[in-house]
Amino acid sequence: MPIKELLNQRVSAAMLAAGIPSECSPLLALSGKAQFGDYQANGAMGAAKKMNTNPRDLATKIIANLDLDGIADKLEIAGPGFINIHLSNAFLAKQLQTPASGPSVETPQTVVVDYSSPNLAKEMHVGHLRSTIIGDSVARVLEYQGHNVIRQNHMGDWGTQFGMLIAELEQQLSEGEQADLALNDLEVFYQQSKKHFDEDPAFADTARAYVVKLQSGDTHCRTLWQKFIDVSVAHNLDIYQQLNVGLGREHIMPESAYNNDLQNVLDSLVEQKLAVDSNGAKVMFLDELADKNGEPSVMIIQKSGGGFLYATSDLAAMRHRVNTLKADRIIYSIDARQSLHMKQVFAAARKAHFVSAAVQLEHHPFGTMMGKDGKPFKTRSGGTVKLADLLVEAVERAEKLLREKNTDLSASEISVIARKVGIGAIKYADLSKTRTNDYIFDWDAMMSFEGNTAPYLQYAYTRIRSIFRKADIDPDSFLATISIVEPQEKALAMKLLQFAEVVDQVASDGYPHILCNYLYELASAYMSFYEQCPVLKEGVAKPTQQSRLQLCKLTSETMAKGLDLLGIDVMEKM
Ligand code: ARG
Repeated sequence: MPIKELLNQRVSAAMLAAGIPSECSPLLALSGKAQFGDYQANGAMGAAKKMNTNPRDLATKIIANLDLDGIADKLEIAGPGFINIHLSNAFLAKQLQTPASGPSVETPQTVVVDYSSPNLAKEMHVGHLRSTIIGDSVARVLEYQGHNVIRQNHMGDWGTQFGMLIAELEQQLSEGEQADLALNDLEVFYQQSKKHFDEDPAFADTARAYVVKLQSGDTHCRTLWQKFIDVSVAHNLDIYQQLNVGLGREHIMPESAYNNDLQNVLDSLVEQKLAVDSNGAKVMFLDELADKNGEPSVMIIQKSGGGFLYATSDLAAMRHRVNTLKADRIIYSIDARQSLHMKQVFAAARKAHFVSAAVQLEHHPFGTMMGKDGKPFKTRSGGTVKLADLLVEAVERAEKLLREKNTDLSASEISVIARKVGIGAIKYADLSKTRTNDYIFDWDAMMSFEGNTAPYLQYAYTRIRSIFRKADIDPDSFLATISIVEPQEKALAMKLLQFAEVVDQVASDGYPHILCNYLYELASAYMSFYEQCPVLKEGVAKPTQQSRLQLCKLTSETMAKGLDLLGIDVMEKM
């Protein structure tokens, strides 16, 4: 059990025993400074206010009832009634020694995580990076905790653009082009078809007719569409692999998969009198999202021509996730610009009883990746940056950096490591920012070996591993008893023991930057420890050395696990 939870239980019990009403919380927090202990219980003030009594007296009563034998070696009251808890070194050592009984939650949930979900009409671009890696990290964290995670890649493979694209494909094939060659560069292909569509009325007519034909199941159009989709999907799967993102073919549940259910969604809404006619369209008026003038929010379910919309697919997807996948919780990792859409879909789904109140629906929004000029990140000529190009550049930059570091790595080692460093740097730079904010994409900052970056953490990891190589010890089978003496040892132990708490927090709120900050703090605590507490140096007593090696081992394992939960690899050397 995480220490914070343990303390929470004990302090809660003491508060009850001191006659404090059960709704008063212990308000447990890490102490900002060592002189205030390791944790503080700050609940006495609030409770005293409620009970109309003196907070310091109440704190004294809590302490009189507080059983922290073997856990804390000093309790004191500070200021108006803070209770400072100084944990005992022996307790911390024992906690570190107790092998985690598996990172399991008490009640595992089935959690659907909808992430990446690019539109297939175009090639993946930088705008798809955030959803892909933030969602992947949250999925990894939940899985690590023991939840049943179902990844859903809600790819956009349907809609009006596909009429234009298959008309273009048909034309190029008729000119003798091979499908995979024609689609070699999806971006160019898209531009060409758009140009035809805009400039050639006959082509535009064909394109429009093809949308209708495609949607009504015409074989010829279906075949062309499938060719296009296959190439686009293969491209995306390749990107996922390069990004070390856990999305495969089996997670693809594209918009088209819900085609046959869209009419049912509409029928159900109409039957419940939730969707009504409005100028030939079927719409929902959502009072729960009314604006400040009391005007309801309008959500179109079916256009006047009969076409269904993005929202309709999302409602069908929601039903699938609840009824078939049996989701207890559904997380949508989607750009903040789709917040209104998500609110509407959630409100409509609840109203129509597609989702019971027991199922948690969460939109985890994120901001935009900006260039150094403070505008959305673009190529020099103002075009969208292809994700594939970005990844190539990251690896090239990392390779150059590694060569400059003039290590004793071979060329083939460098190329493997450059991939991990380059991709890790891009991912970490993104994941370490509070996701709801925009952030500035900055190559130099993310590739730096100093500061809160992936290369810094990966390097810290290799340094720990090199200690074991120097000592000629296999860290994986190494085991020694920890004894905590120096303050830096205690600080490191405290950090190590917070890992579970941090993971819990990411699992509940979906903010991976909390894990990044933690890993950076862990690396810093390790650096202070390493400076003050020699390990392999001559004259260090054997038990001390063994204890410190064990701390090193735990640090490297925690770092590797933490980075793994972000989808970032470590290496032995760099
Ligand atoms: N394809 C959409 C886009 O690129 C994102 C889909 C997100 N998932 C969802 N269930 N709506 O904007």
